[in-house]
Amino acid sequence: MTVRVFSTAQALADAAADEVAGWLTVAADTRTVGLAGGSTPRRAYECLRDRSVPWSEVHAWLTDERHVPLGHHDSNAGMARRALFDYVPATFHEVAWDDDPEVAAAAYQAELEALLPRGPSGLQPGLVILGIGEDGHTASLFAGSSALAEEERDFVATHVGGRGWRLTATRGLLARARRTLFLVSGKAKAGIVAEVLGGASDVPAAIVARSSHDPMWLLDQAAASRLDAA
Ligand code: 6PG
Repeated sequence: MTVRVFSTAQALADAAADEVAGWLTVAADTRTVGLAGGSTPRRAYECLRDRSVPWSEVHAWLTDERHVPLGHHDSNAGMARRALFDYVPATFHEVAWDDDPEVAAAAYQAELEALLPRGPSGLQPGLVILGIGEDGHTASLFAGSSALAEEERDFVATHVGGRGWRLTATRGLLARARRTLFLVSGKAKAGIVAEVLGGASDVPAAIVARSSHDPMWLLDQAAASRLDAA
């Protein structure tokens, strides 16, 4: 596991864009990237607009999506499009809307099966970018949820109290990624970062990180501010 700390959120975003661009340039056999939603990665996606990447060969997908129609202000696809995919010729696989979240998740599972190579233990993503919530969730894997416990499928629907229906990659799919980047910014995340990197946590982000292949954590100083105390 690698942890890199940057002075500001913007420096973090620039470094994240360098890491993503580097992967997408050299990983010729699997130019796929699973995207985190939320607010943290937006700056990094914006920084990617001017990176030299073979975008026409890149396929981007979403590690999670809110169950909202495309165009809704909460949509992760909308955020990623406004930040990056309206500017580069990559293929961006949005989660198609269906009134039934289970139907939407099953359709995206089929799309991932057509997109991602299959390794010895299942679909194998190339690079995956993840964030972390203050409660330790990642993607839309929340503690105690059926999605976190899912062992068979790679992409499922999950109802999250107070947040409504979410669509998310499962632990198994995320664990099989060839490279995992966690992007975390801000003082509000300092506690959960210290807990997860402290090694003894069982929050979803810790479970995913432990099962990831050589995860890299990119933090700003605010998010890393309690690491010494860990
Ligand atoms: C989402 C994300 C989620 C996110 C964390 C952190 O759909 O919200 O995928 O897992 O990464 O909630 O969100 P922020 O970056 O907004 O703090």
